[in-house]
Amino acid sequence: MRSLSVVLSLLLVAAVKSQENWNYTRKGDDWEGVCQTGIRQSPINILSRWTIPRFAGLPLRLSNYDQEVPVTVTVDQHHFTIRIDPDPSVRIAISGGGLRGNYVLQSAHFHYGSEHLIDTKRYALEAHLVHYREIYGNRTDAATNDPEGIAVLGTLYCEATANSNLEQVLQGANGEQVKLRFRDFLPRNLDFYRYQGSLTTPPCSEAVVWTVFKNSLPISQQQVDAIKGNFPDDVTSTYRNVQRLNTRRVERWGFRSGFQSKVDFLKSSLNILG
Ligand SMILES: *[C@@H]1O[C@H](CO)[C@@H](O)[C@H](O)[C@H]1NC(C)=O
Ligand SMILES: *[C@@H]1O[C@H](CO)[C@@H](O)[C@H](O)[C@H]1NC(C)=O
Ligand SMILES: [Zn+2]
Repeated sequence: MRSLSVVLSLLLVAAVKSQENWNYTRKGDDWEGVCQTGIRQSPINILSRWTIPRFAGLPLRLSNYDQEVPVTVTVDQHHFTIRIDPDPSVRIAISGGGLRGNYVLQSAHFHYGSEHLIDTKRYALEAHLVHYREIYGNRTDAATNDPEGIAVLGTLYCEATANSNLEQVLQGANGEQVKLRFRDFLPRNLDFYRYQGSLTTPPCSEAVVWTVFKNSLPISQQQVDAIKGNFPDDVTSTYRNVQRLNTRRVERWGFRSGFQSKVDFLKSSLNILG
């Protein structure tokens, strides 16, 4: 009995260990568990012409996103990313925009080579702002108990000019004390794509409501290189391959062209009536 439990705990340690020792060599194709067997995995290729327009609903509401807050910036060699943890004394949160309830910002991080594609285009960088549903009190509980326990905002960065907000992040990664406004991680126009997915790293928990902004922010090539420079040379990119959509639909929210805004929709209905 005793030896059985020793064997079981060794197996458990081995399982946890293999899940912890993942890498990007095969862009996630060798990750195990739900990463292999899941049916609502992330990231995906968002094909804009197949997205479903949403007319109704509250806009995305941002709380304390405009406030400059002290942050801890960590170069995480285990997950191959730079992570930003806001000072826990400030409650930074989101609601509305089709989210059911309030979600509190836990941390932000980056992937080089974007994870989400829009119309098959891969961007230079993607920021993930990870929020958990406030009623759970922490991210672990939210991710294990609720298919909508986690809300991630994803912002794509297009290689262009230098980004002063990311410059602050890079200074933080070099050990300086920095303050950041999380609003600066989002494009001015908050039109977004929405779908139900998963964490994009092991354990790939299927607990994420995804919000991917339609508009991108700029980043310079030097800044992309500076981010990559924190990681081993053989880690040339940190995105997971895109996953099957299966039966899921991707919505688009708040777009103001054609039939896509409420007013335009009403106007076009009136035109039809005469
Ligand atoms: C990446 O992970 C796989 C599977 O765990 C392992 O076999 C491989 O050696 C790892 N590669 C690197 C470069 O660490
Ligand atoms: C998360 O919250 C639950 C319930 O309040 C608690 O039992 C658990 O230990 C917490 N987990 C972490 C990682 O803080
Ligand atoms: Zn991520």
